[in-house]
Amino acid sequence: MSQEIVEKIFHKTAEIAPHISSGLKNRREYAAKENPSGETQIEADIWANEFFKEAFTSIEGIGEFASEEEKDIVDCGGGVSVTIDPLDGSSNIPSNNIVGTIIGIYDKELPCSGRDMVASIVVVYGPLTTILRAEEGEVHEYVLERKESDGVELHLSREQIHLEESKVYGFGGREYDWTEKFKEFAEEVKENHKLRYGGALVGDVNQVLYHGGVFAYPELNSRPNGKLRLMFEANPMAFIFENSGGASSNGQKSILDIEPNSLHQRTPLYLANKALISLREEKN
Ligand code: F6P
Repeated sequence: MSQEIVEKIFHKTAEIAPHISSGLKNRREYAAKENPSGETQIEADIWANEFFKEAFTSIEGIGEFASEEEKDIVDCGGGVSVTIDPLDGSSNIPSNNIVGTIIGIYDKELPCSGRDMVASIVVVYGPLTTILRAEEGEVHEYVLERKESDGVELHLSREQIHLEESKVYGFGGREYDWTEKFKEFAEEVKENHKLRYGGALVGDVNQVLYHGGVFAYPELNSRPNGKLRLMFEANPMAFIFENSGGASSNGQKSILDIEPNSLHQRTPLYLANKALISLREEKN
């Protein structure tokens, strides 16, 4: 059952993605609204949310829909629960840098632990539009091509992604706000990795999945829970890493082992190969 619905959600996402990408050009301004985490929304955030919401809430087999842009969960019948960050990294839109869409699929009512995930789907609107699809033990990347007539074609571009090398790092937050333990970790990582940070989780994670290494948006002195949202951003990315030979952590344990207290809660996020996650956790 869950495989069938994952398939439907994956294909619906592929169908929507080119519309999102081409609709961004007229929606680069900030709107006078905030999302439930208190961040100012860009017009495109609101628009992309409506687009995905309308499409997903009418798919049979989706029971709950929750968006980073909305306070409450939408109950839409029986079936899997879907979380979405419709436009991750949207502060990159005015400067025309990478943004994406992050989707998590759970077979339990929200909010629930990442161990209840059955799949995650991540769209990267970059020079190419690509889609990562992760299910138990499998992570694949597809390039999306818009057909001249209507519709899209999916080309498998990376089969069974497996983290092997360890070349790049991207760390969020301002250095003066980093904790001593994180600074120690960062110094060791910097010795043999190259900086790659663009300010959109989708793009930064994609670089680490490609080149190997580590992404972190750590706990900060001013924000002990970091910036990123557990259900909307951290869990789907952790699911990808844990199914491609890597690991995830909040600094202490796997992201997927966190039992959430609320839908919009934040967490420090580390995504890397297993050795670097162990190095970070040993610093505690
Ligand atoms: O949560 C939104 C987001 O844009 C993420 O995609 C990204 O990882 C992070 O915020 C970037 O934050 P900062 O602007 O502090 O580097």
